[in-house]
Amino acid sequence: MSSTIDSILVESRVFMPSAETVSKAHISGMSAYKALCAEAEQDPDAFWSKLAREHLTWHKPFSKVLDESNAPFYTWFEDGELNVSENCLDVHLKNGNADKTALIFEADDGAVQRVTFRELLARVCRIANGIKAMGFGKGDRAIIYMPMSIEVIATMQACARLGLTHSVVFGGFSAKSLHQRIVDVGASLVITADAQMRGGRVIPLKAAVDEALTGAGSEVVKKVVVYRRAGTDVAWDEARDVWLHDIEEGQPDTCDPVAVEAEHPLFILYTSGSTGKPKGVQHASAGFLLWASVTSKWVFDAKPDDVFWCTADVGWVTGHSYIVYGTMAAGLTQVVFEGIPTYPDAGRFWQMIERHKVTIFYTAPTAIRSLIKASQAHPETHPERYDLSSLRLLGSVGEPINPEAWVWYYNNVGGGRCPVVDTWWQTETGGHILTPLPGATPLKPGSCTLPLPGISTSVVDEAGNEVPEGRGGLLVINRPWPAMIRTVWGDPDRFTSGYFPPELKGAYLAGDNAQRDKDGYYWIMGRTDDVLSVSGHRLGGTEIESALVSHELVAEAAVVGRPDATTGEAIVAFVMLKRPVPEGKEAEDIAGQLRDWVAREVGVIAKPRDIRFGNNLPKTRSGKIMRRLLRVVAEGKEVLQDVSTLENPDVLKQFTGVY
Ligand code: PRX
Repeated sequence: MSSTIDSILVESRVFMPSAETVSKAHISGMSAYKALCAEAEQDPDAFWSKLAREHLTWHKPFSKVLDESNAPFYTWFEDGELNVSENCLDVHLKNGNADKTALIFEADDGAVQRVTFRELLARVCRIANGIKAMGFGKGDRAIIYMPMSIEVIATMQACARLGLTHSVVFGGFSAKSLHQRIVDVGASLVITADAQMRGGRVIPLKAAVDEALTGAGSEVVKKVVVYRRAGTDVAWDEARDVWLHDIEEGQPDTCDPVAVEAEHPLFILYTSGSTGKPKGVQHASAGFLLWASVTSKWVFDAKPDDVFWCTADVGWVTGHSYIVYGTMAAGLTQVVFEGIPTYPDAGRFWQMIERHKVTIFYTAPTAIRSLIKASQAHPETHPERYDLSSLRLLGSVGEPINPEAWVWYYNNVGGGRCPVVDTWWQTETGGHILTPLPGATPLKPGSCTLPLPGISTSVVDEAGNEVPEGRGGLLVINRPWPAMIRTVWGDPDRFTSGYFPPELKGAYLAGDNAQRDKDGYYWIMGRTDDVLSVSGHRLGGTEIESALVSHELVAEAAVVGRPDATTGEAIVAFVMLKRPVPEGKEAEDIAGQLRDWVAREVGVIAKPRDIRFGNNLPKTRSGKIMRRLLRVVAEGKEVLQDVSTLENPDVLKQFTGVY
């Protein structure tokens, strides 16, 4: 990562928002931003309470705002009641937007389907009625394992309408990962599809569900609802499986929204942590929705005529906050895309922006970098070949965006006129935390700039003391905010110890390294733990290590990330086998087997790029694996550090072959 950090430190370009952007923005100019920050600081309860009354529709109004009595298990608006789906859909019918387009769905093959808010609400109600008729309701949990579609959005909303807590699992995770999540969350219902279509390929989903449901503990699942997407043959369990179209059949277009307590878990989303198995990040209904919709308005500066496109999958938090909930509550017309950016060619994103007249485009640095590369090799896919004049705002999320990619995005996609909002946040934060406001913040390429009003952040040392300007440290959030993680599902101790270590005196530990410059701007320098970011996907090094070690040939394994110009990081596995170090063809064969094994155990997204073999791993005398040194080897560099504390310094010389 060092080259990126060095270039960030010398970055001095500043891009000012245009007078037109400022004049039309919800938060107009730095003085308006500062005034909101001051208001929040002076009386946080009044600030949040006003937002919650203005932005949400309540069944029962709240009288309390923040309750800190059981910190860090904070609660927000605790005695209030509302329904999330009503706030995302019914409200738009009441305010005259029933016939406004809610979703423009573009399939992998280019077919387009549009639904209005009225039609989407009717669909959500039919699905909700079907789920209710099978006997599910508030207090139940549903696993959703579906492709990007109108159906997945309607299904998530249908769960919210009934008070079912959903847990969406990204389609790139394996049957084994799905099984773990089904058991951990205690799902009684699974909603899936026969298959998904990506890049012209048909990828089965129902088969993975069938496999996931054979393992111990999965008997909690009573029903599997299947959306027929691809029309492929699937195995069928008459007692358990039911088609989505069959449960909708004959159901009325209305379904009363179930009022739930503000703290009722809206969803649990699994994400990778520094150690052990993935953790279920639990989010509350009111606080999450409030921040997701307020940030949709502020950060994307949502206007009635906007066409918003977030390219994330709903299997990740970005899709929850800025496709299914926040942006929908904000009433935006949204593009939803089933496919991948490079099919049928790398011009797909630009073609879709032109076709649907997208005004706000929100994507990940990894996509931008891969499209830069593709446009160099295939000039016909360069954004300049398309009419992107509809765009007025660009966004970036998921990993640091290097200044070169930022400037390319700004100039070539945004035509030099669209602000780029580089939004830093996490599954745990529920919504944006550090980000520019398009009509206020001067932009510096590579910096996610400043905290939003109501949010207090710092960069501290291990003892919790603020570090001076320009020095690296731990990024923390000092005060609770409504959309924060409530707990780790089923493991409250992991929540307190992982996010609120005692040295930090009550601050939330984000797990990222950061530094602040002389203007108070934040520069994110990557994770402090072994969490990897591969193509914007968050993966735990330990999960991949555990998968490797469970293979019969493997004795020990260590996984690290190495910087990659396109995917951000690439996974590198150092493996010690139970047999002598293999070479040549044998090493290639074993590496192939191990990659397939990891795809089976964790998911295709977790396959190591490089596998290196040795007869041991570098360890300290107390037996700790020195991943720091392995990172140097993984980059193909010579280890110049002092290795005298190693038990076995010679071992580093072994990992020369890359398979
Ligand atoms: O390291 C940070 C990086 O992504 C992590 C959170 O990953 P996840 O929970 O999967 O959520 C991703 C989508 C919000 C963070 O700890 N990250 C996210 N956004 C940025 C970022 N790093 C730098 N700049 C960003 N804008």
